[in-house]
Formats: sequence, C-alpha cells, structure tokens
Amino acid sequence: MPMKTQILDATSDGIAAAAEILREGGLVAFPTETVYGLGGDARADRAVARIFDAKARPHFNPLIVHLPDLEAAALYAEIPDLARTLADAFWPGPLTMVLPLRPDAGLSPLVTAGLDTVAIRVPAHATARALLRAFGGPLAAPSANPSGRISPTRADHVMAGLSGRIEAVLDGGPCAVGVESTILGLEPGPVLLRPGGLPQEALEAALGQPLASGGNAAKPNAPGQLASHYAPEARVRLGVTTPQPTEVWVGFGPDCAQAPLTLSASGDLIEAAANLFHILRLADAQAGAGAGIAFAPIPEQGLGRAINDRLRRAAAPRP
Ligand code: TXA
Ligand code: MG
Repeated sequence: MPMKTQILDATSDGIAAAAEILREGGLVAFPTETVYGLGGDARADRAVARIFDAKARPHFNPLIVHLPDLEAAALYAEIPDLARTLADAFWPGPLTMVLPLRPDAGLSPLVTAGLDTVAIRVPAHATARALLRAFGGPLAAPSANPSGRISPTRADHVMAGLSGRIEAVLDGGPCAVGVESTILGLEPGPVLLRPGGLPQEALEAALGQPLASGGNAAKPNAPGQLASHYAPEARVRLGVTTPQPTEVWVGFGPDCAQAPLTLSASGDLIEAAANLFHILRLADAQAGAGAGIAFAPIPEQGLGRAINDRLRRAAAPRP
C-alpha cells in the first residue's frame, strides 16, 4: 500500500513535523549541501530496514550517520587525533569519516552492516542542522533515490523516485554542492574511499601528505564503488568534443557554447558539481529512447574528480 508522501517546507513548523515523523520511526528525505538524504533513526532497526526497502537497495551496505557536531559524533565513534584535526578543519561540511564504532553507541547493526566502524558526517546545510537538533539523535541517511539511479539534488527529484514509499520530504531547495560527501577511511592511515564534495587537494593540504585511494570496484563496500551507478536510461559517453547528431551534448566551459545543455558555461567546477545530477536528469529526458548523452571533457582536479567519478559510473556497462 503506497503512502502519501508529504512535502514539508523548511520552516520551523516543517522541521518540527519532520522531527516528529523521525521520532515515530518514519522516513524523511531532507536537504544537505551535497544531495538530499533519506533519513531515519539510526538507532531503530525497523526505520533503517525501511530505508533499504524504500530505495530497493540490493545489499545492506553500511550507511552514513549524520550528526550536528563533533561532540555528538564522539557519542557514537572513537575520535582519533587525526579525525579531530580534520573535523576542526572541515566539519560541518562534505567530509565523511569512517571511525571506530563505540561499543556503547547503540546504533542499529544494519547501519554499520555489522562492521566495527561507523561512517560519520556533520552536514553544513542549515535545514539539515536544524532537523538534527530538533530530532536530537543520529540520522542514518543514504542519498534519497532508488538504488542505482541518479542522486537527488532537489525535492522534486526525491518525489520522482520515492513518492509513496516515505512519509515526507523536507523541501530546502537545490543542493549547493551537488555531489555526495568525500569519504575518508583512517585505518591504518588516511585513505580516500570515495571522491566527493570536499576536494582531495584540500584534504591533502590539511594532512600534509598525498592521499592513498581505497576504491575497489571488484569488491565494493560502497554503492558509489559499483562500476555501474547513477545510471540514466540513455547511453552515456564521456570526453566528447564532437557529439553525434543523435546525442544530447552536455558542455563544460566556453569551448562548448553550441551545446544545448552545459554543466557550467564558464567552466566553473563548483557550479558544474551543483548542476551535475539535475543536468543528467534533463539530458536523460531529452535523449528519450535510443539516443545517447555525450559529456564534454571535465578536468580531473578539485571537484572535477568527483564529477568524473560519477560520470564514469553513469557511463559504465549496465549489469
Ligand atoms: O553526501 C553524502 O554523503 C550523502 C548525504 C545524504 O549525506 N549520503 C550518502 O550516503 O551518499 P550513501 O549511503 O549513498 O553512501 C554511504 C557510503 C556507502 O556507500 C558505504 O559504503 C560507505 O558510505 N560507508 C558507510 N559506512 C562505512 C563503513 N563503516 N566503512 C566503510 N564505508 C562505509
Ligand atoms: Mg547514493
């Protein structure tokens, strides 16, 4: 039986209503600066199980736990010195750290997939922060899209994928960053598990050393590490400077002025990241059946790394 999904405004009343739904074990999609998250009480097995069910996620991959600050994070995870340094530098913001789980954390084992670590993120978005304060507990939240589909950066994207499967969407407008958080592991040393909204260069500058890369497509522990992910209906080609007539060309920078769609006309990577998933949806709708989408080359630097990572998955052969 599908339920009616409410759309709540990001006002104090809307946020209070969302917090109440979460306290009752319901699911609320909410805006963060990266993408919309599908939130549920991270301590409640049933709420967490419903997150997997609503997304039709094929595996019980571990979920990110969202908290308002480092002090709250320390209730659920051990905070090594290095994590404290990075939290001081980058929280609140698009950095997720995988930390040792505290034995007394009280999180649903479904959140951590039975691991002895937990991924923690302190989002910067004002509505997410207000929701976390109003709820007063840890929120498990993967991106608010059906598994394997394009991540949502607007409330209507969430409704398109999950309407009828969740209690509510808190509408906070478009997400500013537009790609998911950067995920950093710390054991035995710092390792980049997923490129994301915090550029690798910023982390390396804070660490004073280059970062090892830990992504392993053959043995994924993150859905973002599955080869095919973020899949539109249309076939996707990358690095295209001369599109075919049947392709919807998505440009980047002033060299692609003729492209009908662009990630950023001026070649700004921050703007491109913020536009990425919305443009992918638009291009998919324009391409229709049988046509393709061709993306112009994106430089492999700063947020360009996260953009290219998501585009490579969108272009990967489908299972
Ligand atoms: O920006 C974001 O991070 C968004 C917003 C909503 O905050 N959330 C998000 O969550 O992207 P999700 O579930 O799509 O990605 C979480 C990833 C998972 O793929 C999982 O593999 C990894 O984090 N992860 C979670 N816990 C982990 C752990 N203990 N060890 C290693 N990886 C972990
Ligand atoms: Mg996701």
